[in-house]
Amino acid sequence: MNTIFKRRSIRKFKNKPIDREILERIVKAGMQAPSAHNRQPWEFLVITDDATKLAVGKMTPYSGMAAHAGAVIITLMNKKTGDFENNLFIQQDMAACTENILLQIAEEGLGGCWIGTYPNENNVKNVKEYFKLPEYIEPFSIVVLGYSFDENKFVDKYDPEKVHWYS
Ligand SMILES: Cc1cc2nc3c(=O)[nH]c(=O)nc-3n(C[C@H](O)[C@H](O)[C@H](O)COP(=O)(O)O)c2cc1C
Repeated sequence: MNTIFKRRSIRKFKNKPIDREILERIVKAGMQAPSAHNRQPWEFLVITDDATKLAVGKMTPYSGMAAHAGAVIITLMNKKTGDFENNLFIQQDMAACTENILLQIAEEGLGGCWIGTYPNENNVKNVKEYFKLPEYIEPFSIVVLGYSFDENKFVDKYDPEKVHWYS
C-alpha cells in the first residue's frame, strides 16, 4: 500500500528519539511541495528538546501531545516571500508543505499529527511570542511526530458520490 493510503493521524508516541537524518528528510519533503509562483514561503522550527516540546504543548488547546512526541516541526510562513496582502495562495502553499511532511513521516515508518495553528489568533500569538518571531514570520502548523505503537491502519475514505464524472 502506498504512503498516501497508510498515513493516519497518530497522537501517541514511544519514548524514542528520531535520528537527525530522518528529520532532515522530513523537512526536505516539506520543501519539495508545490507553491504559487514557486515562492516557497516556508521556514521550519525542528524541536527535539524536552523543555521546548513541553512549551509547545501549551501553545494551543490540542498541542499537549507535543510534550511526549519524538519531535515537533512548526511550519512558518515567511510573508516577505511575495506580497502577502495579495498572495491569496500562501496558505495553500503551507498546507501542501504540511501534507508533504505528514506523508514523509509515514514513509519513514513514523506517525504524526497536524495540530491546527494558523489562523487561530491565540495559537499564532503563543507561538510567535515564545519563539520571538519577527512580524513577517507567521506560524502555520504544528506537526507532532514520533515512533507509534501500532502500524498505521488503512481506513477507506473513498466516497464515489463525491466524484462527478464528465466522460
Ligand atoms: C488543518 C488541520 C488541523 C488539524 N488540527 C488538529 C488538532 O488540533 N488536533 C488533532 O488531534 N488533530 C488535528 N488534525 C487532524 C485531523 O483530526 C485528522 O486529519 C482527521 O481526523 C482525519 O484522520 P486521519 O488524519 O487519520 O485520516 C488536523 C488536521 C488538519 C488538516
